[in-house]
Amino acid sequence: FSFVFSAFSVTYVVGTEASFPPFEYVEGGKFVGFDIDLIKEIGKIYGFDVEIRDISFDSLIPSLMTGNIDIIVAGMTITEERERVVDFTIPYFSADQSIMVRKGEGTNLTVLFKKPKIGVQTGTTGDLWVTENLIDTGYLPKANLIRYDTFNFAVRDLVNKNLDALILDNPVAQRFTKTDPVEIVGIIKTNENYGMAVAPGNKDLLNMLNEGITKLQESGKMDELIEKYFK
Ligand code: ARG
Repeated sequence: FSFVFSAFSVTYVVGTEASFPPFEYVEGGKFVGFDIDLIKEIGKIYGFDVEIRDISFDSLIPSLMTGNIDIIVAGMTITEERERVVDFTIPYFSADQSIMVRKGEGTNLTVLFKKPKIGVQTGTTGDLWVTENLIDTGYLPKANLIRYDTFNFAVRDLVNKNLDALILDNPVAQRFTKTDPVEIVGIIKTNENYGMAVAPGNKDLLNMLNEGITKLQESGKMDELIEKYFK
């Protein structure tokens, strides 16, 4: 019956922002990463296909609300503010924020004494942290915060000395230290949890994703994916 099954299988449109390795990134012209594998594994359990759409991070929630995408899987932190708008699954990953600088400049204390130019991805929790703690407090002038759509451009600007530091999720910063001449000089303990998100009230889909996450945790598949992408 596999023919009948696949003929009627559902495709969910999954929104992500694919400059966030190792959660979602482009390799060989394909979307790959921990999040991509995760949603595909859940699809295998429940018999749905996924179509990945790469959207700017701050457009993900609006796209969910207008029905352009069905699910957000983007290393998105569960926050109270976002929870007022969308429905999140149970957490599937934990992270803090990192302060990332050019390699070899981690011990260069001048960066602490001058007013650094700090990069973030627009609309992320890193953006929020810098805005609340450094801009709104008056410590840094507004112009010192540079917002980027993708981390590809942000990392490039850091390496090219257009930025002094980048604030981003620690697992992603860790990954960039392996592929780019950058290093981590500090961790900001924000205690974030990642969840997938669906449109408010989409109960059946939410339940399926929650059950799927639990099943992958219980079967050891989740650990396998962690091993694959983080070791
Ligand atoms: N965890 C952070 C947040 O939710 C950053 C997520 C960025 N994700 C991405 N795919 N670019 O705000």
